[in-house]
Amino acid sequence: NVLILDFGSQYTQLIARRVRELNIFCEIKPYNKVPKDLSSFGAVILSGSPFSVRADDAPHPDLSGIRGKMPLLAVCYGAQYLAHFHGGNVAPSNTREYGRANLSYIKGEEAFFHSISEGSQVWMSHSDTIQKLPENAVVLASTNDVENAAYKIKNENTYGIQFHPEVYHTTDGKTLLENFLVNIAGLKQTWTPDAFVETTVAELKKKIGTDKVILGLSGGVDSTVAAVLLHKAIGKHLHCIFVNNGLLRKNEFEDVLKQYEGMGLNVKGVDASARFLDALAGESDPEKKRKIIGRVFVEVFDDESHLVEDAKWLAQGTIYPDVIESVSATGGPSATIKSHHNVGGLPDFMKLKVVEPLKMLFKDEVRRVGASMAISDDRLGRHPFPGPGLAIRILGDITREKVAILQEVDAIFIDGLRDWGLYDSVWQAGAMLLPVNSVGVMGDERTYEKCVALRAVESTDGMTADWVNLPYEFLQKTSNDIINKVPGVNRVVYDISSKPPATIEWE
Ligand code: XMP
Repeated sequence: NVLILDFGSQYTQLIARRVRELNIFCEIKPYNKVPKDLSSFGAVILSGSPFSVRADDAPHPDLSGIRGKMPLLAVCYGAQYLAHFHGGNVAPSNTREYGRANLSYIKGEEAFFHSISEGSQVWMSHSDTIQKLPENAVVLASTNDVENAAYKIKNENTYGIQFHPEVYHTTDGKTLLENFLVNIAGLKQTWTPDAFVETTVAELKKKIGTDKVILGLSGGVDSTVAAVLLHKAIGKHLHCIFVNNGLLRKNEFEDVLKQYEGMGLNVKGVDASARFLDALAGESDPEKKRKIIGRVFVEVFDDESHLVEDAKWLAQGTIYPDVIESVSATGGPSATIKSHHNVGGLPDFMKLKVVEPLKMLFKDEVRRVGASMAISDDRLGRHPFPGPGLAIRILGDITREKVAILQEVDAIFIDGLRDWGLYDSVWQAGAMLLPVNSVGVMGDERTYEKCVALRAVESTDGMTADWVNLPYEFLQKTSNDIINKVPGVNRVVYDISSKPPATIEWE
């Protein structure tokens, strides 16, 4: 296990991703919450930071329990921090220390630079530089502009590097991390999806015993993988609830329910479409629609959970990015963990004990764990779909007729993406039903009907996104199919806006 101490760098999560890709487990902790018991950690990595070590309000944690006592790799700010407080000198840099540079390293440090060629490209991003190394340090590598690009403290497994090994543009960055963690710290690369499944199932068995657990399935990757893991551990004691809010994709409820049953899950499909659609009637405001859907979901879920007698646990598909405590730009710890304030008014199911088997995994790891449990690629590669579903893709008020039209349009678009082999190259896609009618002509008839917008985006996390350059032939065929097959629609447009400033959803 590796401890990553976060000093607030935008790249800290990337360090964790790279370490996990090496099949070594790691945890991120804020710099001011160094665990008291370090016995489970075999190495420590210090992250970069937006701060200058010379600033009074910069992170200055006590590392005396770590330094010299266990293998330590200090990246960027971390390297400067060690230098600054141990007899070195850190000063503002006069030369360009952003972007790419090429490493020339001093021979004799084979373990650290194993398989890394002379001149290897590294990525720099700092405005301070280490002018003088800390006591007992020797320089290991330099670049044209940065003399002390990498150093080692003599007689200690302490290494400092000014560049960022975690970013893509540092060509041999992952190799360097592997060299440090495996060659120097002696860690084993045993943290694989199979191993995760095995240990998690054992832990869940022990923790839950013969108690009953309730889990809300959404059809999405996280809740599905969480359900399959729990099912492996406790079998029929896991009671899954899959709610149809009437705003899912065409046939999604029936298809997914069948798939879940095929996986052996003990799942109850609850068709609450009417309850949701009645509650939404006449509402046009996007945020109010979301609130109504959230409220009705809680009501439905609460009713259903009461039908499971003696349930003790609520399982959730929470993943690591939701629980990492991040260091805020002001240097203080800022918990991003969501809390429920409304303690008095909590629905009954929220009073259950919570179990979150995926809470240490990144999204791509959830997929790998799912694949190792033989969940189909089709389920694991599914595009994200918002909880409020088609409600936020029907601009204006929602009626059953509008939902039916949009389901048809969406199905033609998504099935088309699959047929043309485009589905997996798109991060998310969907159709929006616009609150405008426009004039058209069909045969000899003048029409005045609805307009739909298609949207397909590329993204990695939904925070930023760009529209996808879908082939014209595909758009042409899709538009024809929609207008010919879906009564009530006479115009199709394609959304070519990036996020920011446009969001992915239109509401
Ligand atoms: P936006 O529209 O903000 O969407 O660019 C970013 C990602 O979040 C999804 N999204 C939601 N998911 N409840 C959800 O569960 C919501 O209210 C919601 N709004 C947006 C959206 O589909 C995209 O993946």
